[in-house]
Amino acid sequence: MEERRVAVVTGGSRGIGRAVVQRLAASGHRVFFNHFDRDDAAQRETEALAPGALGFSVNVADAAAVKSFFEAVEKEAGRLDVLVNNAGITRDGFLVRMKEEDWDAVVDVDLKGVFLCMKSAARIMMKRHWGRIVNVASVVGQAGNAAQANYAAAKAGVIGLTRAAARELAPRFITVNAVAPGFIETDMTAALPENARDSIVAQTPLKRMGTAFEVAAAVEFLAGDDAAFITGQVLSVNGGLHM
Ligand code: NAI
Repeated sequence: MEERRVAVVTGGSRGIGRAVVQRLAASGHRVFFNHFDRDDAAQRETEALAPGALGFSVNVADAAAVKSFFEAVEKEAGRLDVLVNNAGITRDGFLVRMKEEDWDAVVDVDLKGVFLCMKSAARIMMKRHWGRIVNVASVVGQAGNAAQANYAAAKAGVIGLTRAAARELAPRFITVNAVAPGFIETDMTAALPENARDSIVAQTPLKRMGTAFEVAAAVEFLAGDDAAFITGQVLSVNGGLHM
């Protein structure tokens, strides 16, 4: 019997990441996920919802922590087939008032974190000449959004990073793609005021917010065999909000 594929999902304790962990576990992957929550309750909930999945507290912006996390995964599982870079944060504010620390925090997690995880993961994937990397970008990285200069820049950066890595890793049969969600019902968007949510729904041709499982379905497709000839692409899951 073919050994189970091994997947790492960053930010897997809730929201979109949790849905990705659930889908990949259900389709037979051995899943390792990380998060950076203050307590481990959400991690345990994800583990219960995705039997076999194992969670760890790892800050994706911390180079040493990321390196040891991937070393531990390789030691434990002996291989790595799929990496989903989903961990992300927002620190919204208007450009003229944005604090440097809010710029740095978002760019560190949302962009540098993706670079650090890809660097460690690609090294392991290259040994077996097969891999799937899926980065979670955002409609905000494609279209921009007021009060999100830091987040828009980081997510646009993720799209550039995806395309550069896709070209670089193609000779090793590692594909690199991005998914760009629109507005999705998760803890991240629960913080939005009601009028902001109403306005987003009004601007979305499909007239609703998306679900974490709808984003996870796109991630699962790009992480599987059927997407073998797709690399360097951005798949929008946004109800038509940006075309
Ligand atoms: P969420 O806030 O519900 O979950 C974020 C996850 O990332 C949690 O597991 C958290 O522990 C983890 N995380 C945060 N900082 C971390 C760090 N430094 N190291 C490791 N893990 C860390 O977020 P949600 O909504 O599920 O978003 C997931 C991804 O999708 C993010 O990259 C986000 O930018 C992106 N996205 C979300 C949209 C939405 O409408 N919810 C829209 C477009 C993109």
